[in-house]
Amino acid sequence: RTTRHYKFNIKMQNVTRLCQTKSIVTVNGQFPGPRIIAREGDRVVIKVVNHVKYNISIHWHGIRQLRSGWADGPAYITQCPILPGQSYVYNFTIIGQRGTLWWHAHISWLRSTLHGSVVILPKKHVPYPFPHPFKEVPIVLGEWWKADTEAVINQAIKTGLAPNNSDAHTINGLPGPLNNCSAKDSFKLKVQPGKTYLLRIINAALNDEMFFSIANHTLHVVEADAVYVKPFRTNIVLITPGQTTNVLLKTKSITPNAKFIIASRPYATGPASFDNTTAIGFLEYKKHPHSNTKPNKNKNSLKLFKPTLPKFNDTVFAMNFNKRFRSLANSRFPAKLPKTVDKHFFFTVGLGISQCSKNQACQGPNNTRVAAAINNVSFVMPNTALLQAHFFNKSKGVFTTDFPSNPPFKFNYTGTPPKNIMVTSGTKVVVLPYNTKVELVLQDTSIIGAESHPLHLHGFNFFIVGQGNGNFDPKKDPSKFNLVDPPERNTAGVPSGGWVALRFLADNPGVWFMHCHLEVHTSWGLKMAWVVQDGKGRNQKLPPPPSDLPKC
Ligand code: C2O
Repeated sequence: RTTRHYKFNIKMQNVTRLCQTKSIVTVNGQFPGPRIIAREGDRVVIKVVNHVKYNISIHWHGIRQLRSGWADGPAYITQCPILPGQSYVYNFTIIGQRGTLWWHAHISWLRSTLHGSVVILPKKHVPYPFPHPFKEVPIVLGEWWKADTEAVINQAIKTGLAPNNSDAHTINGLPGPLNNCSAKDSFKLKVQPGKTYLLRIINAALNDEMFFSIANHTLHVVEADAVYVKPFRTNIVLITPGQTTNVLLKTKSITPNAKFIIASRPYATGPASFDNTTAIGFLEYKKHPHSNTKPNKNKNSLKLFKPTLPKFNDTVFAMNFNKRFRSLANSRFPAKLPKTVDKHFFFTVGLGISQCSKNQACQGPNNTRVAAAINNVSFVMPNTALLQAHFFNKSKGVFTTDFPSNPPFKFNYTGTPPKNIMVTSGTKVVVLPYNTKVELVLQDTSIIGAESHPLHLHGFNFFIVGQGNGNFDPKKDPSKFNLVDPPERNTAGVPSGGWVALRFLADNPGVWFMHCHLEVHTSWGLKMAWVVQDGKGRNQKLPPPPSDLPKC
């Protein structure tokens, strides 16, 4: 087994976009941040040194962290933040995963600039279950903010109003020619004819689900969230924040006399305004070194092809697209989903309002603010890390174990919202005995407006056994669950005005965060945590924390 060492120096860096130069928080001065490369089975050791004025923590999104929860990274969940001038070594082994994942800051809104790709290659001499690509290219979708994102979210929390939107979307950090003075800041993918490229697409945006497409080219989806899927062809990929999607791109067999636009723009269903800008890049063919075709000399004869993307709120496209994902579920990659269930949970997810506290200058009606909740509980971040409190049996005053398994009251989730949309708040968790087989149905409440919520679970992959529009029907819908080849993911979009059903095996002792990956909803409280107890056997316990674990 190989150990891969990385050093992440968190430091400020001046970056110019949209005609403005801004000092942003980076890893090693890079934006997007550096790529982590490892093979399945490798140990990865990353020393993070904080040279900035902000508190920092880094999360390795989608890495299962089997019995290494101390390295997971969400601030105040598995660790206290790394304070200015301090450091922490993240140390974990990649077990049973290969594909694309990513890393990002997991504190406040710092992940707007602190993010990068994690590429996990198969074990040595193990081939992909698809044609070996000529080249692999990470495609990180993100946002550019003219404002300082810490100021944006702090202001929103103070006033209780919705935060501002980003100013541009980006492909590998570049907004492209549709944005102010950004023609030179365009992502270019230079390709040779007749080759297969593996695009590792990551949605690192704070607040927008994204469509992605390349004009006149078909994308062949082969993997999602570091799990192979049954390959399928599409012209357009939909990807929520947190998700990763690998696609094969087969280039045309001869160099075409054309340039092809790569476009990315939001899928947005919620009631709030959003950044409706389009990021543009270019697919450019190089002359093959051994071919006789002449390169395109005459620039004016070069045609420009544009992709067509669905309407920004095309929920039908979203549902159809998401339903196409299937596990390989073959002898080499069996779908290890729990066939039976020990514990059922039904969680409503959505927005609401909450009373403002004294130290806020709330501008909502009757001193209220916008809030978001799961089962009507808006999660309050503790002042110390939940995992430490759990491990050292000091949960008193930090968290309570009464997170509700069902919503406190039922209503027609896709009809008129209830009169009282006030949420409660608390630092509540669900405790699961080791190896509990969990079934979890997530239902969008549509309070204030139907909206898709990309729910992300730390520490596990779950299987998406069902999804649908409207209210989940516990009598009829379970009979239609796919228990044969459901997709295995770490982030699932709860359909706008609909539901999704997940299953997972609680085989990873620790404290595991679950939240909407739209950062604004996380800030409003659409989050909770699962405490998975140790098992009795060897290799069923969480080891003690490393000695350099940051303290609160
Ligand atoms: Cu990608 Cu809790 O995060």
